[in-house]
Amino acid sequence: PYPKKVSIFEVGARDGLQNEKPVTTQDKIILIEDLAAAGIKRIEAASFVSPKWVPQMADSADVLHGITRKTGVTYSALTPNLKGLELALDAGADEVAIFGAASESFSQKNINCSIEESIERFIPVMEQAKARNIPVRGYVSCTLGCPYEGDIAVSEVARVSELLYKMGCYEISLGDTIGVGTPLNARRMIEAVAELVPVEKLALHFHDTYGQALANILACLETGVSVIDSSVAGLGGCPYAKGASGNLATEDLVYMLHGLGIETGIDLTKLVNAGNKISQALGRPSGSKVARALSE
Ligand code: HMG
Ligand code: MG
Repeated sequence: PYPKKVSIFEVGARDGLQNEKPVTTQDKIILIEDLAAAGIKRIEAASFVSPKWVPQMADSADVLHGITRKTGVTYSALTPNLKGLELALDAGADEVAIFGAASESFSQKNINCSIEESIERFIPVMEQAKARNIPVRGYVSCTLGCPYEGDIAVSEVARVSELLYKMGCYEISLGDTIGVGTPLNARRMIEAVAELVPVEKLALHFHDTYGQALANILACLETGVSVIDSSVAGLGGCPYAKGASGNLATEDLVYMLHGLGIETGIDLTKLVNAGNKISQALGRPSGSKVARALSE
């Protein structure tokens, strides 16, 4: 049985735009406000990482300060370390996320430290966030494959997920970072993690590089997961995977969920308009098939 309701965690303004050519701060602000107006309740709006590593996110504080907030919407930010946390809290982030990986090589390339070192680094971030009553989300990358190591053992995915959960993350988002998973693998991975972390604390974060994200999500929905990360207009890519796409397009996800009779609280027409507007700012067609079909 599928869940009655799915909570969509929109990552286009962060995971999407961190991998696109730069847009203006105003374009980001408009996008985030449009997403909220379309009924999205959880928006990853910023990333407080090194601007040398990810220049596209360097204006994160201006973005958070610039948006007109909608009541009931959570605006969150990535924070890899204490410096990121301080900047995120100064800018008014409602919640933050720490991000680790199930692959040693990916951890090194992405955050310049080993998995164990990353956990050590996250401990003070978690303590500070708790002291300030800020919820912390945890990401695990490479849950269905790594660009450097290939297959990743599900036991390792489950181990890192449990570490982040026990550390205090309120939700663990499982990333198919390079979009290589297929439905049975994806489902088995979720089932393995769900043995150590309650399934209602898990989220799916699937990139769509190989066009499998929607199928993978459908397979995983049968396990009871009901939180899904997606990116409006399929914004994004991945610097670590050739020809990589962004996360699954939110429009395509919403279309499928509504077709299954699953509630999202999202107005698809408004969402499509939000995605088309940012695609226009980027000067490229929307990465959402549903958006293209509805905009003919
Ligand atoms: P490092 O070089 O090891 O750190 O980077 P450091 O502490 O030695 O600092 C180096 C420099 O960065 C210093 O500046 C710091 O001040 C600065 P300098 O003295 O050279 O001028 N710095 C910062 N600046 C701003 N904000 C900060 C910050 N921290 C240090 N928070 C670090 C370590 C983690 C900072 C770096 O590796 C980094 O920024 N990595 C981020 C990579 C990233 O953003 N990747 C994309 C997001 S993850 C993702 O997309 C996957 C996900 O979607 C899930 C999935 O799909 O799998 C979440
Ligand atoms: Mg991602």
